[in-house]
Amino acid sequence: EEIRGPILVAALLSVVLAAGIGWVVARGPARRLEAMARAASDFAGGRTAVRAEAGGDDEVAVLARSLNRMADELQERLVLLERERSQLRTVLEGMVEGVVLTDPTGRILLANDAFRRIFNAQLPVEGRRPLETARVPALQEAIESALEADEPVTREIALGGAQDKVIQASLASIRESGETVGAVAVFHDVSELKRLERVRREFVANVSHELRTPLTAIKGYAETLRDGGLRDPETAAEFVRVIHRHAERLRALIEDLLDLAAVEQGEARIDLAPVALRDVATQAEAVARPAAAGKRHTLTLDVPGDLPRVLADRDRLGQVLINLLDNAVKFTPEGGRIEVSARPSSGRVVLSVKDNGVGIPPEDIGRIFERFYRVGRSRDRREGGTGLGLAIAKHLTQAMGGTIEVESRPGSGTTFRVSLPAA
Ligand SMILES: Nc1ncnc2c1ncn2[C@@H]1O[C@H](COP(=O)(O)OP(=O)(O)O)[C@@H](O)[C@H]1O
Ligand SMILES: [Mg+2]
Repeated sequence: EEIRGPILVAALLSVVLAAGIGWVVARGPARRLEAMARAASDFAGGRTAVRAEAGGDDEVAVLARSLNRMADELQERLVLLERERSQLRTVLEGMVEGVVLTDPTGRILLANDAFRRIFNAQLPVEGRRPLETARVPALQEAIESALEADEPVTREIALGGAQDKVIQASLASIRESGETVGAVAVFHDVSELKRLERVRREFVANVSHELRTPLTAIKGYAETLRDGGLRDPETAAEFVRVIHRHAERLRALIEDLLDLAAVEQGEARIDLAPVALRDVATQAEAVARPAAAGKRHTLTLDVPGDLPRVLADRDRLGQVLINLLDNAVKFTPEGGRIEVSARPSSGRVVLSVKDNGVGIPPEDIGRIFERFYRVGRSRDRREGGTGLGLAIAKHLTQAMGGTIEVESRPGSGTTFRVSLPAA
């Protein structure tokens, strides 16, 4: 559009000029002038490759040459403009942020692909109001505010629906000699940032809560002892045991937190070396055996000695396995069956811990690897865990280049599978 105006004017001028001269000059040059007029109108019609005949050195030839020079220059400028425009397009379409340009009434002049994607805009976007194409009232409101305001405007736009997106919008009106000629807006999807922020806040709240519970108990019992509780040796002994249990819980929690922080930040030392799974499994089983015996579980080990060795950190892998066995023991009612087994699987070895315990409801299974997540919080808190075991197990497994999966049916049992690359 911008280019057509000047071209038309220039072309029109040339036509008028050529015709005028043609009229004045006698028949001889008239034919050449006619040809020149045709060339000029061709040019105006968009056929920018045509040129007038410029032979000879009379006035007509001079005119033809300047006409051609003008044509050359215009063509050059056209190419330049076209190139700039395509560069702008490339930049806009390559952006992660949505970008929109509107006219002073708020109609969209230009929008990039990211904008259409973020707002799920109906095509065509250009020429319509934001509300007509995207059905997000907050977007319409933001653009109207930007058109009215002297200062840039920022908004946070929540998009409902399944994906629960939060979009940060920065908008500004465009002024030309004091008059608003449009607005430009940039949209940034901050949903992931928001989610991380929420996770962090929840984590801090959880940690504080988990630390406070045993601390409050310790303080309470200690105060009772101080205020005369010591006089009855039997009660005193019981209170000291309770204090010790809570202190132990506090220690476990802090140790788990430090462990988790270290693996998450990649600070934990992970020494990968070929490891015989049978050894690791036997050791972990020995650790879990007393607790399993306490609940009269049958604990079996099916890890062949001739399995390929895996590439892992022996101690860390033991830690993962002990965590899984600890859970299996805890979340299986008395007299259950727990089995540790391992099988090779296309360049990897899969280690399984299977129980026939309470199982995990489908609605919780996606979250059990999250820090502090427990199924039915009160149910599993009684078991005395920190809710960090699986988060640690997952991070450790991943740090060793492995994966961890869970499969469960409420009421019939749970299987955790750790897959590690063969050494
Ligand atoms: N074998 C299992 N059977 C049933 N539920 C399990 C099992 N393993 C883990 N869970 C569920 O996953 C949650 C998280 O486990 P974990 O991170 O080890 O925490 P914790 O053992 O401290 O409760 C548990 O609280 C429990 O609800
Ligand atoms: Mg656990």
